[in-house]
Amino acid sequence: MNVLVVGSGGREHAIAWRLRQSPRVTRLWCAPGNAGIASVAECVPLKAEDIHGLAQFAATNAVDLTVVGSEGPLVKGIADLFEERGLALFGPSQAAARVEGSKKFLKEFLQRHRIPTAAYRSFGPSEYGEAQAYVRSVPGPYVIKSDGLAAGKGVVIAGSTAEALSALKEYFEAKVFGDAGTTVVIEEFMTGEEASLFVLCDGDRYVVLPAAQDHKRIGDGDTGKNTGGMGAYAPAPVVTPDILERVEREIVRPTLAGMRAEGHPYKGCLYVGLMITPQGPKVVEYNCRLGDPETQAVMPLIESDPFELFDACARGTLASYELRVRSQTAVCVVVASKGYPDAYETGRPVNGLDDAERRGALVFHAGTKREGERLLTAGGRVFGVTALGNGLPDAIAKAYEGVSCVSFDGAYSRTDIGRKGLPR
Ligand code: AMP
Ligand code: GLY
Repeated sequence: MNVLVVGSGGREHAIAWRLRQSPRVTRLWCAPGNAGIASVAECVPLKAEDIHGLAQFAATNAVDLTVVGSEGPLVKGIADLFEERGLALFGPSQAAARVEGSKKFLKEFLQRHRIPTAAYRSFGPSEYGEAQAYVRSVPGPYVIKSDGLAAGKGVVIAGSTAEALSALKEYFEAKVFGDAGTTVVIEEFMTGEEASLFVLCDGDRYVVLPAAQDHKRIGDGDTGKNTGGMGAYAPAPVVTPDILERVEREIVRPTLAGMRAEGHPYKGCLYVGLMITPQGPKVVEYNCRLGDPETQAVMPLIESDPFELFDACARGTLASYELRVRSQTAVCVVVASKGYPDAYETGRPVNGLDDAERRGALVFHAGTKREGERLLTAGGRVFGVTALGNGLPDAIAKAYEGVSCVSFDGAYSRTDIGRKGLPR
């Protein structure tokens, strides 16, 4: 089978690496890929957002399945375009991708189907006054989100009314998030532990991959600025069998039934961002794709054929797929460039990858490029160093052993990835 992966981060490296091991996959491309992906797939110089170019490539090269990593092309309608051209693709339609593309759509959908989530109100571009009045009328903390895609940066958690008012000013007056900021959702603040659940769907059936936990803040102990994610581990013990049963009953099944009933059945990965609150699991967000870095921990745990899994979702044949998962734990520690998540350095030579791999770690590339013989840093997040272990402590130790081998000027990683799972 000929397979095309779309994207260029650690997530896409992990997907391509796992697909490469499938006996069903003969040719594997990645667009645009990166220096690490180039060791498992042929990189194609097409941007992930160039959905027409990608469809043309898939048609010309007899691609049997395209697996989309990031949300951009999905929200732009790549699945619809491929479907029109009779090309199989793993990922939701543009209408279904609104679960991530529009917070307002998501909140209204969840409310319509009585799916547990934070209480909220939404305010359009001409409702600045109403938004201010609402904030003054309810106690904080407040969670303020811009409606559209904002690359993970459209969320402000405001402790006090004054902070909330100043955040609203930025959204409505300074338009810091551009047009994406014109509609604003204000939510109740939920307390609890977060978890990420990947639900792989074929429009009708679904399978659930091992629950993961991301580490979004830059600093140890979940302090400092928000990032794209500094590490992940799976399975996350906070999602106990009882919690998982509730999540499937109260969240997953009503969501998939609701999407079907409203005329846009969900195909691809529904990323369920959960808060495990004292009242039970609630939805923080949905994403229309696999998460990063969680995928770098989850893919190595999948024992059954990954091509068949994605293909069954794309073709609606999940009923006959048997998911098998390794009974191990995976930990992924992100190694980032100095300065990240603000302005960061790039172009630093990298050493020690072979050493990390010899010691059993998987080094997924997120932001690297090759210049002649040299490997250079080329992004904020540079690598995800992943290890499998027998239990969480073992996986943590092995992942950090891998991290200690990888070096470049200004390399930074958190030292506590996975630690919050240890007490359980
Ligand atoms: P989102 O972009 O919706 O995933 O939000 C980013 C992060 O903000 C989440 O991962 C949570 O850590 C936090 N967050 C979002 N909504 C809430 C909420 N209602 N209560 C508490 N934390 C939240
Ligand atoms: N790890 C968070 C995300 O992929 O959105």
